[in-house]
Amino acid sequence: MARRKVIIDTDPGIDDAMAIFFALCSPELEVIGLTTIFGNVHTSLATINALRLLEIAGRTDIPVAPGVAAPLASAYKGPVPYVHGEDGQGNTHLPPPASTPLARAAADFIIEQIMAAPGEITLIALGPLTNLALALRQEPRIAQHVREVVLMGGNAFTIGNATPAAEANIHNDPEAADEVFGAPWPVTMVGLDVTHQVIMDSAHLAEYARMNNPMAQHIHRILPVYVELYRLSGGLDGIYIHDSSAVAYVIDPSLFTTTAHPLRVDTSDGISRGKTWASVSQYRTLPPWQNRPPVTICVAVRGAAVVALELERLRHGLA
Ligand code: RIB
Ligand code: CA
Repeated sequence: MARRKVIIDTDPGIDDAMAIFFALCSPELEVIGLTTIFGNVHTSLATINALRLLEIAGRTDIPVAPGVAAPLASAYKGPVPYVHGEDGQGNTHLPPPASTPLARAAADFIIEQIMAAPGEITLIALGPLTNLALALRQEPRIAQHVREVVLMGGNAFTIGNATPAAEANIHNDPEAADEVFGAPWPVTMVGLDVTHQVIMDSAHLAEYARMNNPMAQHIHRILPVYVELYRLSGGLDGIYIHDSSAVAYVIDPSLFTTTAHPLRVDTSDGISRGKTWASVSQYRTLPPWQNRPPVTICVAVRGAAVVALELERLRHGLA
C-alpha cells in the first residue's frame, strides 16, 4: 500500500502531540514535514515543541518549518496555559531540542512540496490557518496541485469553544480561514460538530501509562492539565480528541458522515467573530456564499471507532 504523503501544520498543544504521534504510528501515512503556527502557544514555542515531539518519536529525519507569528489581520490573542500548560506540553518542561528547524518558512515549504509532487500531498491543519492562507496567496496554483486539505477547526451546526460562536483555531485567524474555505481546492472541515463526539474517557487514557513506548509515555505525562480542564469546565470524565479526529479522517473517512456546503467565516469585529457559517438554504445561494466552492463538512462520526483506532496505533508504535 502506497503511503499518503502528509504535511501537518500544528500548534503543539497536547491534542496536537497526540495527533502527530497517531500519524507517525499509522502505516497509511507518510509524514513528510511539520509546519508550525501560533495558537495554543507562540509560533516560536510551537516550533520547539514540534522538534521535541519528533525527538521523542525518534523521527528527527522529518523536517520542521516555522510558520508566521501573527494572524493575517489581527493581533495574536496569546497562549492558553490553562488548556495546554505554560509550555504547551502539560507543564512537563522538556529540555531544549538538539535538532533545529529548517531555515525555510512554513508557507514556502508547503508550496515547494506540493508543486514538486502534484496531486500527492495532503495538508492536515491542526491550528489557525494562517500558513495555508499565505501559501495560497503566494502560489495560488497549489489549490490545483494539492491532493486534499483536511483541517481541525470550525463549528458549522454547533456552538463554539473559544467563544459561544467560534471554535479556537478559526477564532485565532478568521480572515485566513475565510480564504482557505474560499479557495478552489478540496477542503474537509473536521470541526466541533464531530470532535465533541470523540471522547477518550479516563479508562482509555489510563491505557497510555501501560504502553511501552516513548510516545505513549509522553502522552501519559502531558495529559493531566488537559483532563483537568475538561473536568472543571464541563464535568467530562475524559477529553475531546480534536486534532486526532482530523488524522483519523485522512486514514479512514468512512468513520465520518459528511455534507457539503459553501462556508463563510464571520470576519466582523462583533461577538460572532470566527463563526463558520455553512450555506444551507434549500432555495438559493445568498450573496456572501455565491461563487464559493463546497466544503466537505463532517457532521457525524463513529467516535468509539476513532478512539479505538488511535489507541491501537499507539500501542503498536512507530509505523
Ligand atoms: O478547538 C480545538 C483546537 O484548538 C485544537 O486544534 C486544539 O489544539 C486547540 O488549539
Ligand atoms: Ca491544535
